[in-house]
Amino acid sequence: MKVFISGIAGFLGSHLAEICIKKKYKVVGCDTLIGGTLDNLSDLDVEFHKVDCSDLDKMTEIMRGVDVLCHAAAFAHEGLSNVSPKLVSENNVVGSVSTFTAAIKNKVKRIVFCSSMARYGNAPTPYVEDTKPLPMDPYGISKVAAEDILKILSKTYGFEYNIAVPHNIIGPKQKYDDAFRNVASIMINLILQNRRPTIYGDGNQKRCFSDINDCIQCLEKLMFDPEVKSQIVNIGPDEEFISINDLYEMISNKLKFNKEPIYDKARPNEVYHAFCSSDKARKILSYETKVHLTESLDKMIDYIKLKGPKKFEYNYDIEVETDITPKTWTKKLF
Ligand SMILES: NC(=O)c1ccc[n+]([C@@H]2O[C@H](COP(=O)([O-])OP(=O)(O)OC[C@H]3O[C@@H](n4cnc5c(N)ncnc54)[C@H](O)[C@@H]3O)[C@@H](O)[C@H]2O)c1
Repeated sequence: MKVFISGIAGFLGSHLAEICIKKKYKVVGCDTLIGGTLDNLSDLDVEFHKVDCSDLDKMTEIMRGVDVLCHAAAFAHEGLSNVSPKLVSENNVVGSVSTFTAAIKNKVKRIVFCSSMARYGNAPTPYVEDTKPLPMDPYGISKVAAEDILKILSKTYGFEYNIAVPHNIIGPKQKYDDAFRNVASIMINLILQNRRPTIYGDGNQKRCFSDINDCIQCLEKLMFDPEVKSQIVNIGPDEEFISINDLYEMISNKLKFNKEPIYDKARPNEVYHAFCSSDKARKILSYETKVHLTESLDKMIDYIKLKGPKKFEYNYDIEVETDITPKTWTKKLF
């Protein structure tokens, strides 16, 4: 079995590569390295190509002989997409369609697409899969657009597909120095530098965090289980909804940091409560939360301590700068 993972040097992609190698599959992947690092692949036997998913010719060439594709590459930047809509939409829509097209040209049998909980936007929580998507920002819309195109292409060309809907995954190998995303790891990175994290809005907005290992097991089934096809499935726990204030308290207690966070105005279009039901994953993927939030945060803290706290990167251009653009981004405050 030959597996292709786009975004393989990223957080999810590199963990997925590890699982596929354990299953003795041949693993090929691509990444531009804008959001990932080769360090994530250093101990893994993969065939790596520094190729942009939007490059159809190169993608077609490197996907030869592939049986299963997991498309994990994206600008996974929901907040940023409001101030850099062209950048995020172009990458996530064109990059996805190009990847799917290369797979079709190579007669790939199954495509798994990593969507996002952002697809649900302002729909009632907990989100269930058959809720009509109501994305509230260009990132969510780009994910729904890619899902819709994937479904149409599957109908046209007959390949199998599944759509994974992860939410706020945490764990080792996640980028923790990107100023635009990954709230838990930004908090940890700042506190380890004895700096006060910023909370946007009143901090009572609720999220649910998933451990990478629990998430990967679901993705594995979506990729390889012959019984699971044409499915869209939320992946992650639904037992521990938590406010950003409570997340801050958990992390600061673990790190024995006793300063208050800085409160800044809410970011544009940020959904207040965003968490999913995992009933479908429990039913069709035998999902079970094995790693709870406190343990998962401990793993993340250990990882960041091991690698060392880092200065934040601002790798993406801000296209529209107005008074609603967070000043943490325009003034590079992290
Ligand atoms: N981590 C989460 O909490 C989460 C939640 C929901 C959905 N997702 C989705 O899961 C997928 C993986 O997320 P992640 O957390 O691993 O993010 P990540 O940034 O760690 O990994 C994505 C990788 O894709 C690469 N990439 C981006 N655009 C590319 C392109 N055009 N061509 C080739 N490579 C490109 C980046 O360099 C990065 O290494 C993404 O599609 C994301 O939208 C993630």
